[in-house]
Amino acid sequence: MVAIPLTWGMVMVLCWCLWLIFGIRRRQMGEPPLENGLIPYLGCALKFGANPLEFLRANQRKHGHVFTCKLMGKYVHFITNSLSYQKVLCHGKYFDWKKFHYTTSAKAFGHRSIDPSDGNTTENINNTFIKTLQGDALNSLCEAMMENLQLVMIPLGFPNSKSTAWVTEGMYAFCYRVMFEAGYLTLFGRDLTKQDAQKMLILNNLDNFKQFDKVFPALVAGLPIHVFKTAYKAREKLAEGLKHEKLCLRDQVSELIRLRMFLNDTLSTFDDMEKARTHLAVLWASQANTIPATFWSLFQMIRNPEAMKAATEEVNKALENAGQKVSFDGNPIYLSQMQLNELPILDSIIKEALRLSSASLNIRTAKEDFTLHLEDRSYNIRKDDIIALYPQLMHLDPEIYPDPLTFKYDRYLDENKKTKTTFYSNGTKLKYYYMPFGSGATICPGRLFAVQEIKQFLILMLLYFDLELVENHVKCPPLDQSRAGLGILPPLNDIEFKYKVKHL
Ligand code: HEM
Repeated sequence: MVAIPLTWGMVMVLCWCLWLIFGIRRRQMGEPPLENGLIPYLGCALKFGANPLEFLRANQRKHGHVFTCKLMGKYVHFITNSLSYQKVLCHGKYFDWKKFHYTTSAKAFGHRSIDPSDGNTTENINNTFIKTLQGDALNSLCEAMMENLQLVMIPLGFPNSKSTAWVTEGMYAFCYRVMFEAGYLTLFGRDLTKQDAQKMLILNNLDNFKQFDKVFPALVAGLPIHVFKTAYKAREKLAEGLKHEKLCLRDQVSELIRLRMFLNDTLSTFDDMEKARTHLAVLWASQANTIPATFWSLFQMIRNPEAMKAATEEVNKALENAGQKVSFDGNPIYLSQMQLNELPILDSIIKEALRLSSASLNIRTAKEDFTLHLEDRSYNIRKDDIIALYPQLMHLDPEIYPDPLTFKYDRYLDENKKTKTTFYSNGTKLKYYYMPFGSGATICPGRLFAVQEIKQFLILMLLYFDLELVENHVKCPPLDQSRAGLGILPPLNDIEFKYKVKHL
């Protein structure tokens, strides 16, 4: 009986030894130092996944600013010196930024490739994003979001005797509910015929979104969605609700979704459900980072009395300058793009909250063998390898951001209380010092809208409600590292807070 496991054990050890001798990559002349890890295929993935920041810092100490790690069968070259970011991004002609993004999107959302060169669609999706999330389109998005936020936060008939009492709720749960509902209405419009059913439908979508989003890191890591039955069902239900026939019944659908619905994509081989899955990808991109970012901005602001005071003064002044007043008579507050842009204190609060909670991974695939030239030296990179930046290293670098783990609401304000843009590393002014939205060709196309919607949320919270933490000196919740690489990390536990409609 003992012989069978023993034989298997010996076979495994033999395979592992053979892999060590023949299977692992050997570092060649001019290449960065290499960490193969001890597990075939996974390489260093387990250590990286457990705590990416510590893993990268340890390798930085061991190898210097540039090193290669095997992760899930890929060789990833990490460039960890923020002074080198600009140089890295200058090598654009050697980078394929689409490959990783399009493959990941197809895997997670269940559509075929959206790269026009694969022949399934003619849409240049990047152009669509820029055209419909920035410039003039941004005005209508922000206008719709401000109205929808007020619709969700301050329902009709509000305030009544019940709503003037303190309400206690988890802050993350609150931000999730409000931002999801308002964001969904803003992108996918309203169903004017069934107002009551609409709320139920969106709350149902919210539950499905949570189920699906929970397994998102595993999908990105390469696990098939069929392993997760509940998440799979949730994804299918979400996509079902975004089919053409359903969206056609909705009013005030955003330019982004309308353009994609009626795109003259005659060569498209996508059926209705597959197109709906690409809408789902947009829904995910618009919510997955915005929700935790909203939470951190609100939490850090409420937790810091100075920040709260400065923000309240700034918001009250902006409202006064705009000639508007808070009321509950159905006239929503509206601030234009320009007025929203002139709120440096709120900007600084949001930036600082995102600096502390962001853990995105900026990835490019090498199209061919090439030499990466940095300030101090050059490195040979092989075709199909990945070049990665992990800006959290920079965001928490004490040389650039003294006392980096402390929230300082005015960190991004200069001596004139205007937006500060000068940050230094090693005495050199940095071009890249704040990167929660990525960089270069893959920079988030929704970043301007994201900041405006978080700002709108904070403004409305300050204007309509009295806000308090249930526990005054509550500890900052830890970041959920299981989502490292995907963007803004959510809190590991929720924080109770109280809100009450203001006496006007
Ligand atoms: C605080 C909120 C947000 C953060 C931190 C964030 C961050 C990011 C990051 C890091 C990327 C990937 C960049 C890369 O791979 O280098 C990205 C991509 C993207 N984001 Fe955002 N995002 C936010 C909100 C939004 C919103 C509100 C929208 C749209 C309404 C949006 C739309 C997109 C899209 C469509 C992409 C994919 C672009 C492409 O692959 O071409 N994002 N975002």
